[in-house]
Amino acid sequence: MENLSAKIEAADSLESLEQVRVEVFGKKGALAAEFAKLKDVPGPEKKAFAAGLNTQKADLQALFDRRHAELAEAALEAQLKAEAIDVTLYAQASERGALHPVMETMDAIIDYFVAMNFAVETGPMVEDDFHNFEALNLPKFHPARDMQDTFYFGDGSLLRTHTSPVQIRTMLAQKPPIRIIAPGTVFRRDYDLTHTPMFHQVEGLVVEEEGKVSFANLKYILTDFLHHMFGDVDVRFRPSFFPFTEPSAEVDISCIFCEGEGCRVCSHTGWLEVLGSGVVDPNVFKAVGYEGVSGYAFGLGVERFAMLMHKIPDLRSLFEGDIRLLEQFK
Ligand code: PHE
Repeated sequence: MENLSAKIEAADSLESLEQVRVEVFGKKGALAAEFAKLKDVPGPEKKAFAAGLNTQKADLQALFDRRHAELAEAALEAQLKAEAIDVTLYAQASERGALHPVMETMDAIIDYFVAMNFAVETGPMVEDDFHNFEALNLPKFHPARDMQDTFYFGDGSLLRTHTSPVQIRTMLAQKPPIRIIAPGTVFRRDYDLTHTPMFHQVEGLVVEEEGKVSFANLKYILTDFLHHMFGDVDVRFRPSFFPFTEPSAEVDISCIFCEGEGCRVCSHTGWLEVLGSGVVDPNVFKAVGYEGVSGYAFGLGVERFAMLMHKIPDLRSLFEGDIRLLEQFK
């Protein structure tokens, strides 16, 4: 019996105490074995023997209950300790993201023009023929529509191919003078090294009373803008054609990779085309009911600016979401 108490005391977990319980109190346990001896005890001694056993059993039970309570409390304490949250610890610092280079470039472009007193306008990506083409002096069956590989929906609506429809929407909604830029997403059926079906443009439009703005104003602000974005580059205006401007010019900067020497990026011309621009065609003003005004407009591709500013060689890498590229812009 001595060693039974010792066994109970020695149990160091609820699990080992449970084993001891079976050994001591179980049907085939030590106490049961002692009680079994009762039948061999001579009659007169039976009572005292049984009483002695009962006392011992009660003592062991009390010892067991105490040990059980101790171990249960210790187990609870250990669990609470293990699950405790130290609210004074520093929170794990979360990773900081970064603006995508296209959005960062867009912001830089917007910032320049906002500082130059341009307001920011936006328009819908799903457009109709009137705003995207017709009002921009691109009548149906005009060959210049081919320049614009359009995504059409069955109902005649389309994904805008440029931000120029925002020119129309703004002029229809407001009175001159107008001085806006329109940043946004545009879509064309095109996919290769230098074209993606979705890209971003920033449009510009200035409309004033007749004679107050000319090509000279356009030339001044775009030259200043390009110096702001690319630093000390040469800027050249090259005659071109857009249905909605007349005269029209494409604007080039001296190649920032070879500084005009000629390299693969500039196709050995020394120049990089970065903007379309021109004096607003009278037919555009006619389409929105404007009279006695003059103005200029321009449009640029944001991806192209981002690639040139960050010297990213492949346009498509801007759309792959590769974290290794994006992390360089933190
Ligand atoms: N909308 C023309 C394009 O997408 C760019 C442009 C805008 C040209 C405004 C002239 C004036 O190519």
